[in-house]
Amino acid sequence: MQYRQLGKWGIKLSKIGLGSYLTYGFKVEDSIAKGCIAAAIDGGVNFIDTANAYNYGGAEEALGRLLKDYRRDSLVVATKVWAPMDDGPNDQGLSRKHIYEQCEASLRRLQMDYIDLYQFHRFDPNTPLEETLTAIEDLCRQGKVLYWGVSEWTAAQIAEANGLCRQLGVRSMSSNQPRYNCFWRQPEAEVFPYCSEHGIGQVVFSPLAHGVLTGKYRPGAAPKKGTRAADPDQNSVMMSLYWTDEKLRQGRKFVTLANDMGVTAAQLALAWCLRQPIVTSTITSGTKPEQITENLKAAEVEIPDDILMKIDQLFPA
Ligand SMILES: NC(=O)c1ccc[n+]([C@@H]2O[C@H](COP(=O)([O-])OP(=O)(O)OC[C@H]3O[C@@H](n4cnc5c(N)ncnc54)[C@H](OP(=O)(O)O)[C@@H]3O)[C@@H](O)[C@H]2O)c1
Repeated sequence: MQYRQLGKWGIKLSKIGLGSYLTYGFKVEDSIAKGCIAAAIDGGVNFIDTANAYNYGGAEEALGRLLKDYRRDSLVVATKVWAPMDDGPNDQGLSRKHIYEQCEASLRRLQMDYIDLYQFHRFDPNTPLEETLTAIEDLCRQGKVLYWGVSEWTAAQIAEANGLCRQLGVRSMSSNQPRYNCFWRQPEAEVFPYCSEHGIGQVVFSPLAHGVLTGKYRPGAAPKKGTRAADPDQNSVMMSLYWTDEKLRQGRKFVTLANDMGVTAAQLALAWCLRQPIVTSTITSGTKPEQITENLKAAEVEIPDDILMKIDQLFPA
């Protein structure tokens, strides 16, 4: 495994991170999740991503149980706040109250004393940024959070927060977590350039487009039982973003490019994200240890220029 600094900051993350959305504490039972986590950590993964909202705390609770076998200081644990956790008026968003309460709740569920990277899952237009930025500064001063970041904020929102941090004299964000894969290249336009200039590391999500870029789905054919695409509890985002015959055909052509290089499509998709120097880590997940073991090899894959050109032709920016 190779490690990269989180933008300009001192902490180092594995190039492949392990996520927990729709998997651990939800669809993947603990005995299998334990094998997935072992495959990741034994393979050098130190970066583990979750969120309070994944199965309403279920993912954090599963990680709390399963990460107890590992040294806390060997892990970089990231979680998030913002999404609704209940029906009350203060059960969502980025108010000081909700951030404080959810930070405590996440620490309890994770059975940990601190969060390495606390991320604002989305922007909250109903809370003054000043309130959010001073709340996170206080949590950092209390030692409950070491670094903080955002997810899916626009370049303008990131820039506004950065400017306000300077004015307020509080620490600025270390990371951003955007969706990024061959189908979804929007961050290349504004977010990556702004973050490169300001040393904000990118920990990108859904690098395999929920599995479509592994080439395992075929146009015109029903997805195999046991896959994310076949499960209505899990496939809504995937269906709305990636499930067209055209995209499934692109996924199949992507397999041919990977074969030409002697790697799997999943490895090529992950390595493609990592070709961007501002991408610190690409967060994938897996429902079986074998998937994780396969995916980790992507950290060593360098993509030759002719294949990069063919990928650009297949998935124009
Ligand atoms: N910030 C945000 O808003 C946000 C949003 C989404 C996700 N995330 C984070 O990013 C992480 C990754 O997101 P994602 O799950 O969408 O990532 P992904 O890497 O695009 O998709 C992962 C899924 O693809 C399938 N897969 C993985 N490796 C495979 C392989 N080698 N061969 C065949 N199939 C394979 C597995 O599903 P099946 O085996 O079930 O088919 C796996 O669960 C999440 O766990 C979460 O931590 C963040």
